[in-house]
Amino acid sequence: MYDLVVKGGRIATAADLYEADIAVRGGRIVAIGEDLGRGERTIDARGRLITPGGIDAHAHIEQISSTGVWTADDWFTATRSAACGGTTVVVPFAAQHKGDSLTAVVADYHARATPKACIDYAFHLIVSDPRPEILADELPQLIRAGYPSFKIYLTYDALKLNDREVLDVYAVARREGAFVMVHAENHDAIAWLAQKLLAAGHKAPKFHGVSRPQAVEREATHRAITLAELVDQPILIVHVSGAEAFEQIRWAQQRGLKIYAETCPQYLFLSAEDLDQPGIEGAKCMCSPPPREKANQPAVWRAIAAGVAQIVSSDHAPYRFGDADGKQKALQDFKKVPNGVPGLELRLPLLFSEGVGKGRIDIHQFVAVTSTNPARLYGLSPKKGSIAVGADADLVLWDPNKQVTVRHEMLHDAMDYTPYEGMELTGWPVETLCRGVTVAKDMEFVGEAGFGQFHKRGLTDLARPAGRFPTGFNPQDGSYRG
Ligand code: URP
Ligand code: ZN
Ligand code: ZN
Repeated sequence: MYDLVVKGGRIATAADLYEADIAVRGGRIVAIGEDLGRGERTIDARGRLITPGGIDAHAHIEQISSTGVWTADDWFTATRSAACGGTTVVVPFAAQHKGDSLTAVVADYHARATPKACIDYAFHLIVSDPRPEILADELPQLIRAGYPSFKIYLTYDALKLNDREVLDVYAVARREGAFVMVHAENHDAIAWLAQKLLAAGHKAPKFHGVSRPQAVEREATHRAITLAELVDQPILIVHVSGAEAFEQIRWAQQRGLKIYAETCPQYLFLSAEDLDQPGIEGAKCMCSPPPREKANQPAVWRAIAAGVAQIVSSDHAPYRFGDADGKQKALQDFKKVPNGVPGLELRLPLLFSEGVGKGRIDIHQFVAVTSTNPARLYGLSPKKGSIAVGADADLVLWDPNKQVTVRHEMLHDAMDYTPYEGMELTGWPVETLCRGVTVAKDMEFVGEAGFGQFHKRGLTDLARPAGRFPTGFNPQDGSYRG
């Protein structure tokens, strides 16, 4: 007897599209086939499309921003919201600030996540203080303990690493088989431009975009790639916003370098025009890198469709519009505003409706970039990221024809706005199952705080070095082959 049988749905994976029943026992898929009979519970999925649960591999949850502000969502509201949008796994950050012990940071994030998480989760690290004991002891120990990916920043006063530090952390990652995610913007250029803009009285949200043009992202992307090439370390450039950065990534990929990229809905659906609204309204769309001009959006779609970007994440970084320490900071000037937009709940519906529905990507590409690829890149597969015997029963049942007008009041986060207000979408995740348990149904949350399980992650082949050093010098073992 099965615990659950999901009957008659159309299953979409990164490779296949077919009709079958899915049988679940103990939270895992134990059979996929025709006419599997009934389970203790049976879901009639006729007319539904079934995709693997979404994996959102970039979110900031109960994290303090680089300017010292807490995100509006805690672990409960963030994961409740994610579940209602078809996401069953989040991989947010355990963020080290200067002076912190990384191990203590990880323990702290676990303590906050464990009682509140409604869906499954793992953690990336943020390494902002690569002092000797962190590189020699804490980071390698954590990589081996199930945290094999970490993010570094090339900008933000509180977080940025210099090029030498970047090489140091790449070298540790290479030795341990870990994966490095890079926030690529040129810090000094941004700081210089911002200072000149403010001195000239340009304080409005639109100048956030002017202070962070595509050129600063392009340069930092190229630099992150070049440093990675020297050390032979695979990296992923996060939240790539613009055609110019994608050109650098495509260039590197064509040279055979293991360079991966992530983009986000804000670069597909928001633009510089949204930053340039009356008063401080534009602050609702302020994130870094900023949304580019509208003409840039097709280039981001093309990067996804062509496989230059392997992942679409939300980069959920929620700060309320009405909070004095949130987006209201724009009343002072754009530099004071916490960077980030919410997106956990709408990531999949936006991409499904505007991507699959409008023929920009197919259903397999949709599944790949929202679930299968993050699972593979970050060491969550084969448990997560596909619909297969042995995998966790993380399933999303879609009504592909449901018409929804986005309103913030229908979402389940702790925010007071969505940047996507009023968008008309076709297709909606009408039921989300995490390990065979329904956590969201008919646009309502039906899950439970504390149900979410932490997943230790293993190393992935995609992070394995290529074994080529352009200088002939292997900085890891000191050998030289000239
Ligand atoms: O604006 C953004 N993206 N805020 C979140 C922090 C980050 O850099 O990802
Ligand atoms: Zn970032
Ligand atoms: Zn982020």
